[in-house]
Amino acid sequence: MKKLTTAAVKGLHGSIVVPGDKSISHRAIMIGAISEGKTVINHFLMGEDCLSTMNAFRDLGIDIAQNDDQIVVNGRGLNGLKEAAQQLNMGNSGTTTRLMMGLLGGFAFTSKLIGDDSLSKRPMNRVSDPLRNLGIEVKTTNGTLPATVIGGQVHSTTYQLKVASAQVKSALIFASLFADQPSTFIEKLPTRNHTEIMLNQFGATVKTAADNLTITVQPKPRLKGQTIYVPGDISSAAFFMVAAAIVPESEVVLQNVNLNPTRTGILKVLQKMNAEIKIDYHDSVGEPIGDITVKYSELDPIKIVAEDVPVLIDEIPLVALLAACANGESEISGAEELRVKETDRITAITMELRKLGVTITEKEDGMIIEGTKNWNIKDSKLDSYGDHRIGMMDAIAALKSKSALFLNNSESINISYPNFFQDLQKINGGE
Ligand code: S3P
Repeated sequence: MKKLTTAAVKGLHGSIVVPGDKSISHRAIMIGAISEGKTVINHFLMGEDCLSTMNAFRDLGIDIAQNDDQIVVNGRGLNGLKEAAQQLNMGNSGTTTRLMMGLLGGFAFTSKLIGDDSLSKRPMNRVSDPLRNLGIEVKTTNGTLPATVIGGQVHSTTYQLKVASAQVKSALIFASLFADQPSTFIEKLPTRNHTEIMLNQFGATVKTAADNLTITVQPKPRLKGQTIYVPGDISSAAFFMVAAAIVPESEVVLQNVNLNPTRTGILKVLQKMNAEIKIDYHDSVGEPIGDITVKYSELDPIKIVAEDVPVLIDEIPLVALLAACANGESEISGAEELRVKETDRITAITMELRKLGVTITEKEDGMIIEGTKNWNIKDSKLDSYGDHRIGMMDAIAALKSKSALFLNNSESINISYPNFFQDLQKINGGE
């Protein structure tokens, strides 16, 4: 069990360059691998999920060199992946798995995908079902991993997505690169568009209509290796934004954060809750980047509905924590996707906040949270349930506690933020 720290008497202060965006890091390896020539990826996220992607592409014959957080992918062109000699291990990473199902569908060989216990419980038919429309067969084990991808015969399609999921959308976009004709995909709600942005940056033609929902992909692009900088992950920065918002006297700056509007829902939530927040955009091409400053203030309660969820899907645990510190009752609805993340996050959030003495009612698609000024800790033993984002939520919640709290399964944080505790210490009275 890891002992968590409480907040320094004078609050949290300082600035942090958060690690590279997880979604963008995965995509940079994938797109680099099917491009011609070298792709240099700076500020790559060395988290376990992205290392799963790196290892899988090495198994598929791609030479990838690594030097600190710079990665060089020696791409082999659109048709250059080789059949792996062994099963591809996806580890804990849903993004690796689902995106690769689509990409591997373009190759005339068979790939077997396996994952850890948590990943092996997560639904894969949301990808395998639509991929069938493109002629790709993914044989799952009752809708989950292990799965076998049998690709090579891709035809174009028009398909309306059934879930608001960037992973499913990206799998379909990757598969449609190998089709005979253009394909069109229609989303339920706009989701993160890093795949579209990066493919266009590498030379593909992926068009998003003015409705922000209809995406058309031209097949057989000639992709050229690029040099890119992965902006800071707003989903990682969000832990320290929320920390500054809930710990009195704090002021924290998060530098070089990705400000893609399909990811910035948490900024809107903080603003709506009356947090003191300043956003400074930098000049950038492709993905927008900037610095975010957050100061402590009294928080209003919030209502989250289904339309709000895709742009803050990974930040809902933090929205719940903000709500637990606000003045009044908050409600989160339309977030049932959280039940199929690395753990059932609705149940996990409910259990963890209850341990802190917060009154919270679990609903099928979210929760109702009573903001509480002074938590009356019921159980000091917190748990990540093997889910990185729940573990980090616990560590931020502990800053508000007057007594010592402990975290079980803290190592899961390495999935997306290996230096999380060092960065936390940096703004909490440490070096
Ligand atoms: C991701 C999409 C989201 C998000 C996940 C990363 C991506 O998942 O929760 O952490 O990189 O495309 P869903 O597509 O399941 O919503």
